[in-house]
Amino acid sequence: MHKYRIMNIRPRRNRKSSAIRAMVEETKIGTEHLIYPFFLKDGIRIKDEVTSLPGNYRWSVDLLLSEIESCMKLGIMTFDIFPAVEESLKDKFATYSYREDCFYLLAIRKIKETFPEIVLMSDVAMDPYSSDGHDGLVQDGMILNDETLPILSKMAVAQAQAGIDIIGPSDMMDGRVGHIREALDMNGFSDVSIMSYTAKYASAFYGPFRDALNSAPKMGDKKTYQMNPANRREALLEAELDVIEGADMIMVKPALCYLDVIHALRENFNIPVTAYNVSGECAMVYAASQRGWINYELAMTEMLLSMRRAGADGILTYFAKDFAKLVKTT
Ligand code: PBG
Repeated sequence: MHKYRIMNIRPRRNRKSSAIRAMVEETKIGTEHLIYPFFLKDGIRIKDEVTSLPGNYRWSVDLLLSEIESCMKLGIMTFDIFPAVEESLKDKFATYSYREDCFYLLAIRKIKETFPEIVLMSDVAMDPYSSDGHDGLVQDGMILNDETLPILSKMAVAQAQAGIDIIGPSDMMDGRVGHIREALDMNGFSDVSIMSYTAKYASAFYGPFRDALNSAPKMGDKKTYQMNPANRREALLEAELDVIEGADMIMVKPALCYLDVIHALRENFNIPVTAYNVSGECAMVYAASQRGWINYELAMTEMLLSMRRAGADGILTYFAKDFAKLVKTT
């Protein structure tokens, strides 16, 4: 007589100890997969916390250098920086973005001189420098596509001259990857990579980022260029175009509500796919864990794992340093 039911397949056997669980674990995530975004401000000795993104700061470059060093010790080697530009320096054409004395370009130079071995990435879009707060050129309430492209290319070349490793076009204008690729190549920067914000959705989850840079649109929204959250097939079209135009990597943004899109790009394209775990996604975890409603470390790890499982190679995330500390201690 059997005391227990006979079942020849019992999935729980592969979960019976931590060693067995580790042996059959399908998805790995390490610090090598993480890209850490920073906000940068002009000045010295500035470390100014972003209220809606606790634990994240607007740094002046002097302090950012030591922060980067401490992240490198934890194994993070790739960083993305975003400038918080004074309102008085913004104009319709985002001219400050490629001015030689632009603090952001000087900072890129300084960071790469100090740490040549890191990978440094930068956004290309007009919004942090635009008095209209849009990613493209605004005229009579319209966002002009083709007129925006030369501005983006100038910005990209200026960043390449400063020593950037990866350009991240985040503006969603049509044809921008090809335009920027050509400008980089014509100026001798064929080694500078492009990680395109391929499927960037018009999302509610960018709020804290716009607080950090004071870059929210002054009028309207971004729906005529950023994608409709309802669309998946359109992401495949965007990816096809980016690949043809010369992108080295394609990104999905935000990540958490778009895991199916990450998966679709992974299945259909052979270049690396990255995911941007955006500010609002991280802010939800900070806020709920501060109240004791969820466990910060477990929730963060589960989110990052889900993006890797969906097919992301790299992940941009404000959790990068906390995650690196966690894996170092466990
Ligand atoms: C700018 C840009 C945005 C983000 C990255 N680059 C904001 C936007 O498009 O409005 C959002 C990142 C985040 O929320 O963490 N084009």
